[in-house]
Amino acid sequence: MKILVTGGAGFIGSHTVVELHNAGFEPVIIDNFNNSKITALDGLRAIIGHDVRCYQADCNDVAALEGIFKTENIEGVIHFAAHKAVGESVAQPLSYYYNNLNSTVLLLELMEKYGIENFVFSSSCTVYGEPDALPVTEATPRKAATSPYGNTKQICEDIIRDHVRATPSLKAIALRYFNPIGAHQSAQIGELPLGVPSNLVPFITQTAAGWREKLTIFGNDYNTPDGTNVRDYIHVVDLAKAHVQALRLLQKQTTGQYYDVFNVGTGRGNTVLEVVKAFEKVSGQPLNYEIGARRSGDVEQIFASADKVNNIMEWTAQKTLEESLADAWRWQLTLKK
Ligand code: WQD
Repeated sequence: MKILVTGGAGFIGSHTVVELHNAGFEPVIIDNFNNSKITALDGLRAIIGHDVRCYQADCNDVAALEGIFKTENIEGVIHFAAHKAVGESVAQPLSYYYNNLNSTVLLLELMEKYGIENFVFSSSCTVYGEPDALPVTEATPRKAATSPYGNTKQICEDIIRDHVRATPSLKAIALRYFNPIGAHQSAQIGELPLGVPSNLVPFITQTAAGWREKLTIFGNDYNTPDGTNVRDYIHVVDLAKAHVQALRLLQKQTTGQYYDVFNVGTGRGNTVLEVVKAFEKVSGQPLNYEIGARRSGDVEQIFASADKVNNIMEWTAQKTLEESLADAWRWQLTLKK
């Protein structure tokens, strides 16, 4: 079964390509390499043992996208390709709304035209905003997004939901990610932030590798055990495997018109300081960090209830925080500044 993976050369996309292959699916990538490197394809070849077909194109390029649907016998789509930097989305909202919304609508239109019935969407825990109660379940009300990026994820979920209601055969799942970290244990693929990382773990590993002078922890005056923010850090390979389980769940739906959402997290929360201490333990070296001012837009605490994804999608996170950080560190040590 051929699966089109948009953004398949990216961090989560590339790890999902590996797990799709391992599960007997045939992944086909479309990626414009705006936020990924073509070298990721070399890493995929090293892991999988052969080239993965990749179309260098933008998901908003109708001709290129339709050409793939005409050429390849695609039976499912996993849509990762999107702009995803919260801070950047505040500075460039139109670019985020156009890119993230238009690509989703275009994919759904072409899927309908070519009779493709299985759609997995990369959503985010940012759709919850600052939750009133923890852990968040899929029934937790979505609050007003705290950024245009988060808003695009909320709107895309609504687009998919409404389109499924109007399309008898379409089956779709939205996976709400928490905080993906780590790398494939082979260290052949991993996170490749372009420029200065905004996310915590790549900033930690780059600091430990001497690429950055020190980590600034954005605030330690929150109402949490040690004053720093709480997040649900999930190994990217666990997250990738969740996409395989989502496809299998869609394949089980025989009547079409299926839409559901799943939190994909460990069900555990860790503070920023706990992540730093765990990293120092796995790396065997102290990390240079300081406490700085809060970062605007950060929610104080969020972590998932994973009951629904555990029970219905038959998926449970396997990797610990320390295993994830050890894999992230091993990957970082292969990189050259
Ligand atoms: C985690 C914690 C920071 C950097 C983002 C996206 C979200 C999702 C996951 C896509 C926070 C603190 C960070 C630093 C720090 N991505 N931090 N110093 O903001 O939880 O979520 O990635 O779906 O949509 O918003 O992740 O890694 O940026 O921050 O103290 O240099 O680390 O304050 O508490 P975040 P993050």
